[in-house]
Amino acid sequence: MKKKISLLMVLILVLSSLLVACGKNNEGTANAAEKENTTEVESYTLEGIKKKGKIIVGTSADYPPFETHALVDGEDQIVGFDIEIAKYIADELGVELELVDMDFDKLLGGLETGMLDMVIAGMNPTPEREKEANFTDIYFETTHSVLIHKDSASEITSPEDLKGKSIGVQIGTTQEEVAKTIENAEVLSLNLNADIVMNLKTKKIDCAVMEKVVAESFAKANDDLMVVEGITLDSGAEGVAIAVKKGNDELTEKLNEILADAKAKGLIDKWFVEANELYN
Ligand code: ARG
Repeated sequence: MKKKISLLMVLILVLSSLLVACGKNNEGTANAAEKENTTEVESYTLEGIKKKGKIIVGTSADYPPFETHALVDGEDQIVGFDIEIAKYIADELGVELELVDMDFDKLLGGLETGMLDMVIAGMNPTPEREKEANFTDIYFETTHSVLIHKDSASEITSPEDLKGKSIGVQIGTTQEEVAKTIENAEVLSLNLNADIVMNLKTKKIDCAVMEKVVAESFAKANDDLMVVEGITLDSGAEGVAIAVKKGNDELTEKLNEILADAKAKGLIDKWFVEANELYN
């Protein structure tokens, strides 16, 4: 009888420890599934964007024809070449577009923290920026030009003439880097291109460095300003690209597909022409 009882006890012990192990196991798998779920829905991934039904796009809307504020039907709106591209991307992904206007130098930080899903801001991919973010293929080729007051037309005609000049640039841009390499230049770094233009118009600075198409756009809108034909500055960048969070490869690939498709359909060229017409 005693033997039987102790055998039964052993059996109960074995069974209960088995049950505990099973329970733990279940818990384990439940936890893993939960974890998987949360990483799956990181809101800035392709899937996360589709899940939340919108793409949050950062830009710095002071850079026509790429992006600028304009009154549309009496309402302040952000318009331009990049904005048309962003709209197309949102349409292709089947989601809403939410634009966030920020200081240019804060944009990549916005990707890093997950506040933004994508940045489109006439941004040049550079080796340093590529350490911080993923970039798509270049969607538009650009070079950098010099914008001056018409009164300086005879004084600033070649790259040598920039030596010792006061030069306005936007903070955190490739233009700021280029300007800093010019001998004895006094670089004035500001947050907004509109303020740089104002400084130029009031002759507080001698010139400004911007992407050629942007300098042309400001010259078109301001009779007293002009682009120096004889100066092209090289920042090492070949053009502009879209940025997303570092490692967000699936979204990068998808954006490359969408950009290639828009290019093949002639839409990129069309949007560029249309954006330029806004300033005629
Ligand atoms: N292309 C320059 C850069 O990448 C300047 C871009 C400025 N863009 C803007 N939206 N303000 O640094």
